[in-house]
Amino acid sequence: MTVRNILIHPDPRLKKVTDPVASVSDDIRRLADDMLETMYDAPGIGLAAPQVAKMLRMIVMDCEKEEDATPAPMVLINPQVVWSSDERSVYDEGCLSIPDQYAEVERPAEVEVEWMSLDGKTQREKFDGLWATCVQHEIDHLDGKLFIDYLKPLKRQMITRKMQKLKREMARG
Ligand code: NI
Repeated sequence: MTVRNILIHPDPRLKKVTDPVASVSDDIRRLADDMLETMYDAPGIGLAAPQVAKMLRMIVMDCEKEEDATPAPMVLINPQVVWSSDERSVYDEGCLSIPDQYAEVERPAEVEVEWMSLDGKTQREKFDGLWATCVQHEIDHLDGKLFIDYLKPLKRQMITRKMQKLKREMARG
């Protein structure tokens, strides 16, 4: 398993709609392993393929945040929200592609998601709490949408300018 480089906003690849995964190949299995490794290493609770420059509809997540909790890694291929609750919830969201920036985002409190698992089977599951927020945040990435796109333009521009500055500093080393 390899920790891959995470793209930092702003990057045109984070704004693109990604392609469906046709079938689960060895490359896809390797990508899933690497994405989980990259997510745990960061550390984060979710990661989408475009964040590691793979323009495919694939996400990983593990929202078990307690230090001593059993890891619950999930790999979702071609995930789709098939139902969402009218009830909404607000979470202070962050993103590995927008380091150290957090803002409140309101989303449906519960969603039902359908996806293909690594064994090629169709899965369907209802998510709530942090898992619901996380799965929606990650699926957004597959459509080129970031959590800051939910914020007011001024706040979004402020965060983007901070990230541009961070990237200049990173480039200088
Ligand atoms: Ni994100």
